[in-house]
Amino acid sequence: MKPSNWRLGIVLILFTLSQHTIHALQSSAEAYVTLLYGDEFLLGVRVLGKSIRDTRSTKDMVALVSDGVSDYAKNLLQADGWIVKLISLLANPNQVRPTRFWGVYTKLKIFNMTDYKKVVYLDADTIVVKSIEDLFKCGKFCANLKHSERLNSGVMVVEPSQAVFNDMMSQVKTLRSYTGGDQGFLNSYYAGFPNAHVFEPDLPQHVLNSRTVPDMERLSTLYNADVGLYMLANKWMVDEDLLHVIHYTLGPLKPWDWWTSWLLKPVDVWQNVREQLQESLPGTGGGRNPNDELLVKLLFLLPLFALLFCYYRYFLQTRSFCDHIRHLSYIFRSRGALAYSAVSSTANSNQQFSNGAQSKVPAFLGGLSVSVCLVAALVSLALALMIVPRQVMPWTGLLLMYEWTFTIFFLLFGSYLYLIYQWGKMKANQVGSFSSRPGSIDCDSGKGHQLQVSSYDVAICYYGLGMAFLAIAAPSLPCFLGITALFPRYFAGKVL
Ligand SMILES: *[C@@H]1O[C@H](CO)[C@@H](O)[C@H](O)[C@H]1NC(C)=O
Repeated sequence: MKPSNWRLGIVLILFTLSQHTIHALQSSAEAYVTLLYGDEFLLGVRVLGKSIRDTRSTKDMVALVSDGVSDYAKNLLQADGWIVKLISLLANPNQVRPTRFWGVYTKLKIFNMTDYKKVVYLDADTIVVKSIEDLFKCGKFCANLKHSERLNSGVMVVEPSQAVFNDMMSQVKTLRSYTGGDQGFLNSYYAGFPNAHVFEPDLPQHVLNSRTVPDMERLSTLYNADVGLYMLANKWMVDEDLLHVIHYTLGPLKPWDWWTSWLLKPVDVWQNVREQLQESLPGTGGGRNPNDELLVKLLFLLPLFALLFCYYRYFLQTRSFCDHIRHLSYIFRSRGALAYSAVSSTANSNQQFSNGAQSKVPAFLGGLSVSVCLVAALVSLALALMIVPRQVMPWTGLLLMYEWTFTIFFLLFGSYLYLIYQWGKMKANQVGSFSSRPGSIDCDSGKGHQLQVSSYDVAICYYGLGMAFLAIAAPSLPCFLGITALFPRYFAGKVL
């Protein structure tokens, strides 16, 4: 054997050995795990990761991502320090359910993560506020028992095991799942869970070593503090300083949606961590999203430009700027019918005719306008809510919401006023033709001006009303949202 071959042999043996060691190290390792089904939860996972790192944990953070997740999201998570692992969705084989139940059993795959000795699973809508390294001392399976006497799968400690996973897979077809998803399944699988002992992280090591490891243990509420519980009393029912994990469970109130921060005080904690997110990829510092940034700028500037354009188009082109000011000050000085008749008498010497035209303004117009104003306001609110990107910062969201509600309201109610104005002009023209006086061209232009002034006054009045309504409605929007979102939850909580 030549010396070089001999050396190669040793190198090969060493290499193989080191591979084994690495593998052994890996399988003794522990990790935090979360699951990402779609890009909507990306920000949640980023914040969760940052919150874990903020507790000075150096353990692996594994994000299991399914098919619905974009490459951009995967890259960003990797840049944030997550180990990204692709998984396929695991459907509930029993039930034919709507698509949102697709892949609801996927979470069970954490039991199959046998590369790790122990994993702490956290939902993407949780945040760690205090070190939870103690959880790795937990036995085979730990979760939190909710007030509904059911285990919640939002925070779990799992000792991955091929045997357990296979056993689960064999029972997936037969065991009932009250949610149709993983949580319901786990409640059936760990049937005795409500009677399990509470996990005590502070037990001395020799006690931990000498006892038989229980199949399941309950985690204290401190490891899965549900904001739903916060809502019931409007404060944490436990000492806030003791909390380890906050779980933002309230259905539509996800912490990454801008409005949630205006409704739920505990979201401040989440937003604070979000603001400190690093710029792992260009434009992602502070939890920003480069696409949203551009959209936000557009949304912010568009109404302003539209306003300028309209101003230019409708005012500066038809009258000079001075005329416009004069007109405004004129409206300001004179009021209501007085103004109306005053204009009529100057613009048209025929007092009788102008009175006739005034009485032509139908009585139902007032009520109609108020209704239209209300509907327009509601539609503007709804549209604005749809237009503004959901995951912007709370202040950005609120400002854009204001801006767009007003813009859409201007457009909607403005169009209504314009229609009314056109309709009034048409009517006036009819009256004009009935009056059958010669030289009606002069008269028409006078009438046009006269009606224009009157509809301006109506317009200003209703604009004022509408604005007042919106100014009150927009800030109380959270209240509307809160009522619809929280009360069913509240009652559900009571019933359960
Ligand atoms: C479970 O893990 C094993 C080994 O890592 C893998 O081969 C298998 O495909 C996994 N099962 C599922 C259903 O993901």
